[in-house]
Amino acid sequence: MAKFRVRVSTGEAFGAGTWDKMSVSIVGTRGETPPLSLDHLGKEFNAGAEEDFEVTPPQDVGQVLLVRLHKAPLARSRPLAPSAGDAWFCRWLQLTPPQGAAPLHFPCYQWLEGEGSLLLREGTAKISWEDHHPTLQQQRWEELQARREAYRWKTYIPGWPRCLNEETVKHLNLNIKYSVAKNTTFYLRGGSSLAELKLKGLLDRKGLWKSLKEMRRVFNFRKTPAVEYVFEHWQEDAFFAYQFLNGLNPVLIRRCHYLPKNFPVTDAMVAPVLGPGTSLQAELEKGSLFLVDYGLLAGVRTNVINGRPQFSTAPMTLLYQHPGRGPLLPLAIQLSQTPGPNSPIFLPSDDKWDWLLAKTWVRNAEFSIHEALTHLLQAHLVPEVFALATLRQLPHCHPLFKLLIPHTRYTLHINTLGRERLIAPGQVVDRSTGLGIGGFSELIQKNMEQLNYSALCLPDDIRARGVEDIPDYYYRDDGMQIWGAVERFVSEMIDIYYPSDESVRDDSELQAWVWEIFSEGFLGRESSGLPSTLGTREALIQYVTMVIFNCSAKHSAVSAGQYDFGAWMPNLPPTMQLPPPTSKGQARLEGFLATLPPVNATCDVVTALWLLSKEPGDRRPLGTYPDEHFIEEAPRRSIAAFQSRLAEISRYIQERNRSLALPYPYLDPPLIENSVSI
Ligand SMILES: [Fe+2]
Repeated sequence: MAKFRVRVSTGEAFGAGTWDKMSVSIVGTRGETPPLSLDHLGKEFNAGAEEDFEVTPPQDVGQVLLVRLHKAPLARSRPLAPSAGDAWFCRWLQLTPPQGAAPLHFPCYQWLEGEGSLLLREGTAKISWEDHHPTLQQQRWEELQARREAYRWKTYIPGWPRCLNEETVKHLNLNIKYSVAKNTTFYLRGGSSLAELKLKGLLDRKGLWKSLKEMRRVFNFRKTPAVEYVFEHWQEDAFFAYQFLNGLNPVLIRRCHYLPKNFPVTDAMVAPVLGPGTSLQAELEKGSLFLVDYGLLAGVRTNVINGRPQFSTAPMTLLYQHPGRGPLLPLAIQLSQTPGPNSPIFLPSDDKWDWLLAKTWVRNAEFSIHEALTHLLQAHLVPEVFALATLRQLPHCHPLFKLLIPHTRYTLHINTLGRERLIAPGQVVDRSTGLGIGGFSELIQKNMEQLNYSALCLPDDIRARGVEDIPDYYYRDDGMQIWGAVERFVSEMIDIYYPSDESVRDDSELQAWVWEIFSEGFLGRESSGLPSTLGTREALIQYVTMVIFNCSAKHSAVSAGQYDFGAWMPNLPPTMQLPPPTSKGQARLEGFLATLPPVNATCDVVTALWLLSKEPGDRRPLGTYPDEHFIEEAPRRSIAAFQSRLAEISRYIQERNRSLALPYPYLDPPLIENSVSI
């Protein structure tokens, strides 16, 4: 019988190589060969190796459809063979049939743990209606069955998006688990921060900070230029307002044409900032007023820290953008949703400590809303839904699986770890934040009632909030450029694989994927506006763009600056120990310090922000696809074009940043990760 040439590529990561015995079966239109040994005597499957073999099938299997790779423990005769439980990462396999036929490429990019086999398809992407051979139809069905067994949904907290049914990262399989390199960096970073604070005895100190100077001294060891900038400017009104545009939570500010009834700001209150010749009504009509409303925080449960009850408010801030000049500035702050004598409206013209304390209460609300909703819910739990639905509903050969799997990398690991180490009872959220996990849980449940599709689609979100033309809004400017690049890329990919709207409607796997995201992630809530089916190519392009954007750029924008903006704790206090002021003229420095978090909670949270704001190695920046799931020319050309557009965007951002006192790097493509992985 004629010989086939087989080339196998093993991954380069630590632990990717194996001593186990490998063989391959060739599955064709006329049957399947027995396992044919891949053996040269030696360790062929070393990390990083690409090895050639020759195999001779005992029968003619017809046209090749699939290959089955087998891995079994080596006989004990070979020394130093730690075979049992050994894992192997296969990048790809190439099979060259006899008589000069073109090589067939089988992308894999999967771990095979212990004894077992992997069934691989030739790499041309195929939608189910293109698969006519029953063996191929059977293969995609069986692959999905196995994945649905391996990755199951669970309800972690009722009213939250459902998530992966695993208790601990220890039990995750290697395909979704942090690499050894990433894990090691992660724990080294965490360990060193904790050790540093422990050495200073700070994690055990339950009392107040003695002074702002003391706080400054403690966190002096890990300065970044942004942390320095925050320290210099945190009390300034312009910087307070700037953070609504380009801080950690740039998604709340909206144009205000009508003052909310429960926020009775008057002309006299705002005249000093608006200047002569105008009025509140005139500025509302002109569209130069903006509102940030933390109403969702009203009535949310608060935590007990060091045995003391903590406090939270649901403030509102009115801001003013002078048309054509000057920075955005705050006009007025009310610390509750209920106006009245006990909830005065604070103004920039108030006594220094009254005004600073009011702004600091807003910054505390910002911490709660940002960490619970913008970060945890929208940038972790929602991307987890995309990741899990992708694994369960799209087979490896599906073009959308190939397109999206890089954007799900490590998301299930970091979220499982988050449930284990961040939000579980007794962990940092519970120990050291003003809301604790009880408050986080209520906030997420409330936000799930409102979260809608347009909030997940940046162009719609910008339009809905009326912030299309507010100047110096870098989150919007950079985000829109990236959205545009992703949309163009996705649109090219959809053009390649979906010839018509009908072909979208007929893709049953795609429809099951969309349905699962709607029903498991958004709990089947029609008012979310999340599609439950997709009927056109246009709708599919928007949907897939939304998935990629939220799994990459959005997370970076709301996560990478956590340490920059939070390391100087008074700029982003995780909790407040005294109730909010009910009158003016009482605030002093001592009261300000007594309101801020205690020493141990500060250190606990700042350590977490340090750990979670930086990707722990093993990075894959946006648009980099070292796992080559696509083998056809057309998608590979689109990937290259996407990469060059991202490089162009990066050049623009870096150029712009050079002229800024505080650069905005969080959406610079090389710094954005492909997926939510920290
Ligand atoms: Fe994150």
